[in-house]
Amino acid sequence: MNNVLSGMRPTGKLHLGHLHGVLENWIELQHKYNCYYFAADWHALTSDYKDTSNIKNNIYDMIADWISVGIDPEKVAIFIQSHIKEHAELHLLISMITPLGWLERNPTYKEVKEELSEKDINSYGFLGYPVLQTVDIILYKAKYVPIGIDQLPHLELSREIARRFNFLYNREVFIEPQPLFTKVTKLSGIDGRKMSKSYGNSIYISDYGKTLSDKVLNLITDTNRVRRKDPGDPDKCMAFEFHKLYLSEEEILMIKRECPTAGIGCFDCKKILLNRIVEKLSPIHHKREELLSKKDYLNDIIADGDKRAKAKASETLKECLEVMNLNY
Ligand code: TRP
Ligand code: SF4
Repeated sequence: MNNVLSGMRPTGKLHLGHLHGVLENWIELQHKYNCYYFAADWHALTSDYKDTSNIKNNIYDMIADWISVGIDPEKVAIFIQSHIKEHAELHLLISMITPLGWLERNPTYKEVKEELSEKDINSYGFLGYPVLQTVDIILYKAKYVPIGIDQLPHLELSREIARRFNFLYNREVFIEPQPLFTKVTKLSGIDGRKMSKSYGNSIYISDYGKTLSDKVLNLITDTNRVRRKDPGDPDKCMAFEFHKLYLSEEEILMIKRECPTAGIGCFDCKKILLNRIVEKLSPIHHKREELLSKKDYLNDIIADGDKRAKAKASETLKECLEVMNLNY
């Protein structure tokens, strides 16, 4: 069975954009491939090296989210990057064979550097972000990497690096990984911009009660619909992006019919949505609470994932050292 690997930086609780854009895809893949999913805590340091106080909690929050939405720790090796020291050793070796020009050319590097210009990320580690990411992938001989389209330049670099290693040492040690694109689910945040933690506009998987209902009931609707009797257009309504994900087909048809004739008001329409979201999230919250209240259980899951990851990683590293004549 082919290997699939993906990771996320532990930035804390995940939102509905993560759930529908990434995690549902991860859940599907776990049935078809031998999957490794990990917390990229070293990658988190590239931008947040100064304040490291949240990393540990963020890892637990994130992994609890993964499992509570349906990532199955029996099927998937769930692990923490920094627990597998092979990532560090292979990163050093791979850094020796990676031309500097390949990294400086990387469009993501240039963009993020401009975006985060208020932070000082002009570091060696930040430039090497895609080298470490490459190592994460090739260490597990992952054939497929589920990523968003924005990560494509990184993956292309990983392919080039894998190819270069195999060429230099004249052995097919590494597989060139291929992207598996996540189906794009456009989800706006509560302010209408793309849902993103950094915009503070997210509905979190773990939101419940008044926090959740306030967010859902305040979602931006068709802005032409000012009064109750004004007709609306679901295609111009940001809340309707959520309706399409959470409501039954009949309910969606009903809204498509009743919104343009002002047969239904926005409040009632979003109330239906809220009910459906609560129905979907309640069992997830249950599971999440249970996991976070039994830290030992969560630690056991991680220890088991670490063990499986370590077995594969050390095998690959050994092979590398051999072909590089460094096995002494
Ligand atoms: N760069 C990814 C992110 O920002 C995290 C990541 C690190 C990753 N290593 C990876 C993703 C390897 C896929 C494969 O979330
Ligand atoms: Fe959106 Fe529903 Fe209001 Fe129509 S009735 S604008 S679909 S919230």
